[in-house]
Amino acid sequence: MADRYLHLTGTAPGRFLTRRLGLPQPAPLRRWSLETPTLDGPVLHLTAGEPAVPGEVGELLARLGLPVVEREQASRPAGIVVDATGIASATGLAALHAALHPVVRSLARGGRIVVLGTAPSPEDHHQAAAQQALEGFVRSLGKEIGRGATVQLVRIVPGAAASAESTLRFLLSPRSAYVSGQVVEVSGAAPDQVADWFAPLSGRTALVTGSARGIGEAVASVLARDGARLICLDVPQAEDELVRTADRLGATALALDITAPDAAERIAAAVPDGLDVLVHNAGITRDRRLANMAADRWASVIDVNLDSVLRTTDALLKGGTLNRGGRIVATASIAGIAGNNGQTNYAASKAGIIGLVRSLAPRAAAEHGVTVNAVAPGFIETKMTAAVPLFIREAGRRMNSLSQGGLPVDVAETTAWFAQPASTAVNGQVVRVCGQSLLGA
Ligand SMILES: NC(=O)c1ccc[n+]([C@@H]2O[C@H](COP(=O)([O-])OP(=O)(O)OC[C@H]3O[C@@H](n4cnc5c(N)ncnc54)[C@H](O)[C@@H]3O)[C@@H](O)[C@H]2O)c1
Repeated sequence: MADRYLHLTGTAPGRFLTRRLGLPQPAPLRRWSLETPTLDGPVLHLTAGEPAVPGEVGELLARLGLPVVEREQASRPAGIVVDATGIASATGLAALHAALHPVVRSLARGGRIVVLGTAPSPEDHHQAAAQQALEGFVRSLGKEIGRGATVQLVRIVPGAAASAESTLRFLLSPRSAYVSGQVVEVSGAAPDQVADWFAPLSGRTALVTGSARGIGEAVASVLARDGARLICLDVPQAEDELVRTADRLGATALALDITAPDAAERIAAAVPDGLDVLVHNAGITRDRRLANMAADRWASVIDVNLDSVLRTTDALLKGGTLNRGGRIVATASIAGIAGNNGQTNYAASKAGIIGLVRSLAPRAAAEHGVTVNAVAPGFIETKMTAAVPLFIREAGRRMNSLSQGGLPVDVAETTAWFAQPASTAVNGQVVRVCGQSLLGA
């Protein structure tokens, strides 16, 4: 179902009327395309206080291939990167205000602000307070900035800023249009070299569960665009749709119920050279309030959304099907963070995904050289959400900082960033693709 309100506010009379009524004014978001792969203007590089390692953020920005400018030259920057890594006290936070206050209004429509910080220290509570303060700062600025702009905090390891290259490339591009108010921790792990940033997955094999349609189809399309060889998996009942999607992408179709006892074996058999990217996207809802929920509705949701993910992940890691340098991306949901009326089963399964990712990520990296991350979509325009009753659907669309629903491609772009060989340092992260939803914010 198209977002008619977004269309209405894009017309002059509609804009006039909705402004008079004090209604939300969603800004049209620009997604990545070959014609417009980058932001529409320069990136302004600021420092707030003395950086933890002088010069390294400048070097990192220089690698991105974007025009980078200093304060005096940029009248309308499309991106602003603030190095706040050296802020270690409450009084030091004044430098953040001093850096951004004079320029925040000049950010272009649909612009990006990325604040760079470091991990709060367990030994120094003054540093920890100051660095944690950055989180409240970006989440608030994300809510007030408007005009389709986004704001994020990226925590880097001083001395290893280069590990954050794939992350900054993502956040400072149209690929992250519907991601805002997020905190991403990037470790100091050395990234793989990337020969071609337009085809970072070239030579890699990726499998996406539930990819006959919806978000999974978009994920498969974006991974194929990025050069991966694709295996599209979906239930046998969806085989016609699955084959159509797979044919369009030049992919292999695997008609398989992911809850089948031999699912992992059949996946392993389909990838004789191993798998580089595994995307657990298949998911179902069986909504009822707990008092009305029969045991089978509970069990099927836990089985598809969580238990099958645990089983196949374990078997494919243990059996060596996931190649070293591999990437696992699971699909959570903001319902798993905020909870949702009528979704105890679904929210439990999605919160379980978050637990799985956080626990497994360090071990998978140490033992198998594989990263494990999750996307947590908010309201995404799909057949699933088109079926939601009108008023709940409208609330889902508007109750976020960007005042609109996301598109399947927004979840796909975030997945593709996790999947990149250059994202070795992005591990154990749960990134919401929700336009900074007010739910669970
Ligand atoms: N649409 C949203 O707003 C939204 C929000 C948050 C999270 N999500 C999550 O994103 C994922 C994709 O959602 P969607 O909106 O594209 O849903 P969808 O229903 O359009 O697509 C899900 C796909 O998974 C497949 N599938 C279901 N059970 C399967 C099984 N046992 N084995 C193999 N395939 C199976 C379905 O056949 C379908 O093709 C799900 O995990 C969902 O929970 C969606």
